[in-house]
Amino acid sequence: MLHHRFTQRLQRLRRRGLHKSPILWVVLLGVFFEVVVHCLRFRVPVPSRELDTPFYATCQEPEVNAPRENAAIVMLARNEEVEQARHSVDSLERHFNQWFKYPIVFLNDEPWSKEFIDVLNATTSAETIFEYVPKEEWLFPEWIDENDAKASIKAQGEAGILYAGKETYHHMCRFFSGYFYQVEALKKYRWYWRLEPDVDFSCAITYDPFREMARHKKVYGYTIALWEEKRTCPTLFRKVSDWKESQNIASTSMWKAGITPSWVPWPFRSSLSWFSHRDKYGDGWNTCHYWSNFEIADLDFFRSERYQSLFRMLDQDGGFYYERWGDAPIHTLAVNMLAQPHQIHHFADIGYRHDTFYQCPANAPGGQLPESKTLNKANESWAPEIEGGVGCRCECDGSRTRNIPNFCQNRLRSPNTMSRPWSTWFQEWVFF
Ligand SMILES: *[C@@H]1O[C@H](CO)[C@@H](O)[C@H](O)[C@H]1NC(C)=O
Ligand SMILES: *[C@@H]1O[C@H](CO)[C@@H](O)[C@H](O)[C@H]1NC(C)=O
Repeated sequence: MLHHRFTQRLQRLRRRGLHKSPILWVVLLGVFFEVVVHCLRFRVPVPSRELDTPFYATCQEPEVNAPRENAAIVMLARNEEVEQARHSVDSLERHFNQWFKYPIVFLNDEPWSKEFIDVLNATTSAETIFEYVPKEEWLFPEWIDENDAKASIKAQGEAGILYAGKETYHHMCRFFSGYFYQVEALKKYRWYWRLEPDVDFSCAITYDPFREMARHKKVYGYTIALWEEKRTCPTLFRKVSDWKESQNIASTSMWKAGITPSWVPWPFRSSLSWFSHRDKYGDGWNTCHYWSNFEIADLDFFRSERYQSLFRMLDQDGGFYYERWGDAPIHTLAVNMLAQPHQIHHFADIGYRHDTFYQCPANAPGGQLPESKTLNKANESWAPEIEGGVGCRCECDGSRTRNIPNFCQNRLRSPNTMSRPWSTWFQEWVFF
């Protein structure tokens, strides 16, 4: 009887045209509002004041005699990279360390050659320390089946995943994600500046970034943010977000800046979690990360039990070998989960190049200290000054400050800046 009435009703509806049914419209509106409410939960609030600006936007007279922070510059390199290592240390020396003389710790998974030690020691006026990472901290951990892992690495290489065919690259990413923070030679320091072979600095850094990080209670500083190569880490985000949930860690606005909420309505949304780069509710990760080959950060943050237990969980999982998890997305997810927006600093004033990507700010008008004897000894000429520039004696022409799409930069900065380009609003909801 009921069934009969229902079919009658359906036939009537069909005759009138389904689109004229008010019930259908109510249901559709309900679905639409549910999706909108869901997406709004991930909205990154605009802060009521700027939470992160450059520490200085003009040249400073370097305070060569001021007290220093308990900090070191750290480079992981190999003996055969002596020329690339020299290039980076020389660039940092000319643009910064000739005034500040922070010690440089060199790490290697093999004993250093005399040539490397002599060349690098002669390249800087600062103290140099040459350390060796023990094999048990560098190679496969005992719970990883070496043959399986090697076969997987080979397959990843054949699939053309960036750097994934190189075994040492996997060891390196794992090292920088975890054991790096336990290295004996770094135990006595509070802050580190990560330096990679073959990079260039292109502006003078005339203040002490460690001191400013400490003074502004920052924990993490970066220059460049970009998208991760998705095929390197298909299961990483799910594992980190599940861990976050298991630890009852609330989503900060930094965490939300990494999420692209799903437009699929309830109750179908969570079925999206079958796909990569999504959490168990079906919401996506935009893969934006701080490019960790440049970092100025607080060692204590990464030495904390919280971070180390996250690392241990990931290490046990094996994704450093069965996938090619990079230390950059891991540092980023951890920082964005555990730090507050005002604790993260974008060094917009530091000119930096690694590989083909660079950031190079324009020079601040009237801020170049043309009379400074100290600075003139380093370089008397600099590129033109441009309105809005934040750099000190930068060598690039200022017409293009970055050669990377701005999406990730804007997205990861959105929790701590009041200026949000309209394009970010659009991208944040529509793209993924
Ligand atoms: C570096 O050179 C300085 C001065 O020439 C020397 O005193 C120091 O022992 C050297 N350091 C290393 C690690 O070789
Ligand atoms: C000095 O600045 C010029 C122009 O900005 C640049 O081309 C040159 O490489 C710099 N020289 C040094 C020693 O840094």
